[in-house]
Amino acid sequence: MKVLVSGGAGFIGSHVADRLLGAGHEVVILDDLSTGHVEQLPAGARFYQMDVHSPWLDELFTIERPEAVVHQAAQASVRRSVEDPVFDASVNLLGTAALLQASVQHGVRRFLFASTGGAIYGDTDLVPTPEDAPALPVSPYGASKLAAEVYLRTFHALHGLSYAALRYANVYGPRQDPHGEAGVVAIFTQRLLRGEKARINGDGKQTRDFVYVGDVADANARALTSDQVGAFNVGTGVETDINRIFALLRQLTRSDRPEEHGPPLAGEQRRSVVDPRKIETLLGWHPQTSLEAGLSATVQYFREAPAIRPAVPAPPA
Ligand SMILES: NC(=O)c1ccc[n+]([C@@H]2O[C@H](COP(=O)([O-])OP(=O)(O)OC[C@H]3O[C@@H](n4cnc5c(N)ncnc54)[C@H](O)[C@@H]3O)[C@@H](O)[C@H]2O)c1
Repeated sequence: MKVLVSGGAGFIGSHVADRLLGAGHEVVILDDLSTGHVEQLPAGARFYQMDVHSPWLDELFTIERPEAVVHQAAQASVRRSVEDPVFDASVNLLGTAALLQASVQHGVRRFLFASTGGAIYGDTDLVPTPEDAPALPVSPYGASKLAAEVYLRTFHALHGLSYAALRYANVYGPRQDPHGEAGVVAIFTQRLLRGEKARINGDGKQTRDFVYVGDVADANARALTSDQVGAFNVGTGVETDINRIFALLRQLTRSDRPEEHGPPLAGEQRRSVVDPRKIETLLGWHPQTSLEAGLSATVQYFREAPAIRPAVPAPPA
């Protein structure tokens, strides 16, 4: 199948593109490189440096004629969405609407959307959280992702466009950006490898559902060839606290940094874990990578990725 992957130069999108190429699909990537990296583009994909909102979008669809769209591109920072909700909505909502419009105009058969578990459900006592739990986002980022899901439902009702919104939990793994508002795994890994302080916010007992990026790519590959429509959580259903992440990474990086705690982050969610039973039942997807194996692959990547990140030598055993 010919698939247009938006955001394919980014962390998750590049793994999705790799997986789709490996499964024999033809892949075309659209990315404006605002947070993505050329070095992460898979060799077998054609690349267009373009905004999802570009006036050339129609031209791209006319030239490439994709049969499916896998939409990973986004303004993915919660903090930036709070500072600039208009920019967030312009990328995450208007950009998605533009891709949806081009998709129906050019006969796309399947549309996948990178949605979010944590930011859509907000603070909830229902853990692990199922897809039909109330959506109560507490950030413009969560609101724009939820609004984009409503657009997907509307385009399905109006034009029959088949779609799946994949609500990712906390994705981690190789190629995650350790700068700015990144995932805790990437930040801690890079800091510990450099012998720097990796400070835990608050008591570190806040929990998250850590899902390995390779498993997320696999969920996309399965959803692409399925005709199941709707929202699907993509997570492990397992809660892991930040203290455990620190302890595992400390061991894997062979760091001797003591556990250090800072003040708690204002408004930080205490627990966040999604219920993956729907995707397991309807798409046969199960996370395959244990936390230990995924963290180990991540540490290995950060040691050996001089092209994108400064090389970090392994400490003596
Ligand atoms: N990382 C996570 O834990 C997580 C969790 C839930 C949802 N998501 C979602 O998964 C998707 C991928 O996230 P990521 O962590 O890989 O982030 P990322 O920043 O690494 O990837 C986003 C990619 O989109 C591109 N992009 C951004 N704005 C664009 C625009 N206007 N036009 C074209 N390209 C644009 C960037 O250059 C980048 O390559 C996003 O939609 C994000 O909201 C991520």
